[in-house]
Amino acid sequence: MEVRRVLLKDHTTLAVGGPAELWLLEHPDELPEATAAPYRVLGNGSNLLVADQGVPERVIKLAGRFAEGELTGWVGAGSLLPIWVQEAARQGLSGLEPLLGIPASVGGAVRMNAGTRFGAIADALAEVEYFHQGRFFRKSPGEIGFGYRKSGLPPGAIVTRVRFDLKRASREAVAARMAAVDAARKGQPKRKSAGCAFKNPDHDAAGRLIDAAGFKGFRVGRAMVSHEHANFVVNLGGATAREIWQLIEAIRATLPLELEWEVWGVIEP
Ligand code: FAD
Ligand code: EPU
Repeated sequence: MEVRRVLLKDHTTLAVGGPAELWLLEHPDELPEATAAPYRVLGNGSNLLVADQGVPERVIKLAGRFAEGELTGWVGAGSLLPIWVQEAARQGLSGLEPLLGIPASVGGAVRMNAGTRFGAIADALAEVEYFHQGRFFRKSPGEIGFGYRKSGLPPGAIVTRVRFDLKRASREAVAARMAAVDAARKGQPKRKSAGCAFKNPDHDAAGRLIDAAGFKGFRVGRAMVSHEHANFVVNLGGATAREIWQLIEAIRATLPLELEWEVWGVIEP
């Protein structure tokens, strides 16, 4: 276990966020001590807007033993999802194709039920292990309960590892399904972002609504609504959480959209 002060902008894909105490855990035995004071869990930081002032809680990140695993056995929650998507394709195992292009940790993907219109991670899970209030639990996805970009995991639960539910398939069939997902993502920007800022409302797309309202290219400081896809807010370099929040509020003053990102800390308006 290693504890150090960091800037969360170095641990989030938006490259925004102030100081915090990072607890880098290597082994499940370290969970009781790490969770003995208020904490947050950091995955790959790809769905987070973190305040410029940072957060007072410990920030737990899963490394070491938590980042290891085997595709057909238990997979550590601290490992990166894209690695398993590629490994499944290599082995001719089907189930993870819809998750192509999602830059999540396995644990963060489970918490958010990450997915695309082709399917979500809950559809590809056999079992989830998590640590909560000093104990380990193992549950089926049905017992946890998942919805669109949400899971029924109890607050504070730390996903430690999962077992995937994969089916044998030809490598060609898996590759073809991945190509379809890749094609659907082609319009997404390559600049620093945290993915889609808002959830899609029923029967519509937040990106279409934000675009139609004329927000593409709208800027606050170094934060901008992407020209490529209007549901992506991009950091042009050096954006602050405050600038990004002002941009989000400007959109929400026009459109009643629900944020998909998680916001950490207090962002002054
Ligand atoms: P973080 O952003 O670090 O954390 C998100 C939440 O998960 C926090 O509440 C955190 O506390 C919690 N968490 C993290 N790890 C654990 C754990 N081990 N146990 C319990 N809770 C945990 N999302 C999609 O759904 N579909 C997409 O197509 C998609 N495309 C994206 C493209 C880009 C370029 C980017 C930057 C993001 C995209 N996202 C997409 C958003 C993001 O990748 C997902 O929301 C992802 O699930 C976040 O995972 P993470 O590990 O980065 O979690
Ligand atoms: N659209 C516009 N203008 C834009 C962007 C989109 O008119 O600027 C229109 C498109 O033409 C299309 C519709 O909106 O008719 C939907 O767009 P798209 O196909 O790009 O999909 P999306 O609903 O915006 C969803 C997920 C993405 C996921 C893709 C691929 C949400 C909020 N977003 O995007 O997930 O990658 O499908 O399946 O559910 C994320 O959650 O962070 C994320 C990136």
